[in-house]
Amino acid sequence: MARKNIAAGNWKMNTSISEGTQLAKALSTKTVADGTEVIIAVPFTHLQSAVEATASNSKVFIAAQNCNENDKGAYTGEISVDMIDSIGATHVVLGHSERREIFNESNELLKAKVDKVLEKGLTPIFCCGENLEIRESGKHIDFVKGQLTDSLAHLSADSFSKIIVAYEPIWAIGTGKTASPEQAQEMQEALRAHLAEHFGAEAAQNCSILYGGSVKPGNAKELFSQPDVDGGLVGGASLDAEGFGQIIDSF
Ligand code: 13P
Repeated sequence: MARKNIAAGNWKMNTSISEGTQLAKALSTKTVADGTEVIIAVPFTHLQSAVEATASNSKVFIAAQNCNENDKGAYTGEISVDMIDSIGATHVVLGHSERREIFNESNELLKAKVDKVLEKGLTPIFCCGENLEIRESGKHIDFVKGQLTDSLAHLSADSFSKIIVAYEPIWAIGTGKTASPEQAQEMQEALRAHLAEHFGAEAAQNCSILYGGSVKPGNAKELFSQPDVDGGLVGGASLDAEGFGQIIDSF
């Protein structure tokens, strides 16, 4: 898969079904530049309406925010990749820091989820990122490289080529404290080099690496202009149709 500009929204656990449908509908008529893709990661309950509301816009894709690593069976309350696929969603966010921290998702579990999503032909949006303590210790780059190694290094270059990576420093999520464009670039350049060691230069060059953490209409352009920042994974600002539209136009 060639490198694309991607504006991805993560609604997290927000919006009623009518609010969500309205937000998705606003994207159905959005003009999206060539070479850019829009993805919205919506709650499971909103997948179907989001797929339907955006069906007329070929640049907009729908993602789940999580999935179970098993095919099917006695896993009460869980959602399988086949279920997500059968609705028409195409992407799955994996390893968001909120899943890692609040729901104790480990690199090993995420490896199994990555494999399941790829096996079913959907696209993982693999999240990684360090907390403030790790950043202040100066070991942040090694830490995030380790997250990629533990969950992705077993893949073939061909399988890896289907993955989108999202770097989201935890200290910048929902805090209004964005990583500077230089901080995002430094990390993402290092991650791309690390990916090149595992999968080869071409696969690493073709991988879209997104930045997430307080991306807003006012800072998106500067962040996205960095050579290794191929777009954003946007939380709070993706809940406002107009603001998210401006972020989509920031490449
Ligand atoms: P905010 O944009 O609200 O900081 O959230 C970022 C994020 O976690 C996206 O997945």
